[in-house]
Amino acid sequence: MKVQVDSSKCQGHNRCMIFAPEVFEVDDYGFASAQRGGEVPAELADKARTAAANCPELAIVISED
Ligand code: F3S
Repeated sequence: MKVQVDSSKCQGHNRCMIFAPEVFEVDDYGFASAQRGGEVPAELADKARTAAANCPELAIVISED
């Protein structure tokens, strides 16, 4: 699985950090990006999906591979 944060949509709600702090990180302004270049370890896949489902801006894009 890969995950990306669409920076044009992210508004800094930081719900992704609540649900999957091992997958995302935030900058000094509170905007999120994906750790590890977007590669999600299998054991964190469910957390990444939960974070994506809870982003109010639908800024998190998941691609299954
Ligand atoms: Fe941004 Fe959504 Fe996270 S708005 S900070 S990607 S919850």
